[in-house]
Amino acid sequence: MGPKGYVMPRAYKEQAESIYNLPIRPSDIYVASYQRAGTTLTQELVWLLANDCDFETALAVPITHRYPFLEIFMFYIEWKKERLANIHQVEESKRENLIKAMEVMTQPVLEKLASMPSPRFIKTHLPMCCLNPTIVDTAKVVYVARDPRDIAVSAYHHARLFTVFDFGGTFKEFWHLFTNNRFPMTPYLEHVKEAWNLRHHPNMLFLFYEELTKDLKASINRVADFLGKQVTEEQMARLCDHLSFENFKKNKSVNYEGLRDYGLMTPRKDEVFIRRGKAGGWRDYFDEEMTQQADKWIEDNLKDTDLRFPTTK
Ligand code: A3P
Repeated sequence: MGPKGYVMPRAYKEQAESIYNLPIRPSDIYVASYQRAGTTLTQELVWLLANDCDFETALAVPITHRYPFLEIFMFYIEWKKERLANIHQVEESKRENLIKAMEVMTQPVLEKLASMPSPRFIKTHLPMCCLNPTIVDTAKVVYVARDPRDIAVSAYHHARLFTVFDFGGTFKEFWHLFTNNRFPMTPYLEHVKEAWNLRHHPNMLFLFYEELTKDLKASINRVADFLGKQVTEEQMARLCDHLSFENFKKNKSVNYEGLRDYGLMTPRKDEVFIRRGKAGGWRDYFDEEMTQQADKWIEDNLKDTDLRFPTTK
């Protein structure tokens, strides 16, 4: 799709125009990213700062309810048709939950957004060119990016975790799909460059996962400044604790574990949403040949920009 050739699930076409023309409110806050860049961590941080550190609500209300996911339908429309056609193959006791999940994943997000009170918090993995072009002039956008090698490893596990992807190949095969732009929303580096090019706009905050996790306090201060919020010392300590990887893993409002009972995630417990939480884990997955090929791929794709990841400088 478009001049960058983004790969989109077929169903995207059905709502592409409505998404592009979605009326933006000045109080909207978008958290945008390529998947697995640290979106959930960024969403929780933004939401807490914007809501005066209301930890009680954050712990009680799942992040999926606080942040409609703009284009979630596009992954699930075809899946729903296929699952419904083969529903007799699903164990009877699991059918009701699966049908409920189908309804939720394909519900009209745009209608929900229209009736939502302000301020709205919205999650998207769409590249900036798919969103209303007035978005940064009107609302606030926080974009988070991550080293492409860690994105690929994390996205590979995510594609094994979520039954809608049901990826059964090796990591090497996945890396091939990712770098040859055969995976949804690739080319990844074009996705990041679009947001990078807007990073000086006062309504755009561009973050790196590597910086977020290396110095969470500094990142909290950056996001607070961007949102015009003050953070007390006590709030800062509680934010760091709440956003820590260990606590995130246990936190049902952000760890997506609830989806397992609905047949949306594999029953195999070796795959989880809040998985490893480290920068540089890709080294365990790349052989020498892949490492060299990745270096060249990154270099070639960053030739036309001053974008550099903290880990690729
Ligand atoms: P890994 O698979 O490398 O562990 P997204 O929310 O965009 O899907 O990103 C998910 C990635 O962010 C996963 O990366 C996940 O473990 C990591 N992550 C989520 N919460 C985190 C936290 N509180 N601290 C550090 N990393 C976190």
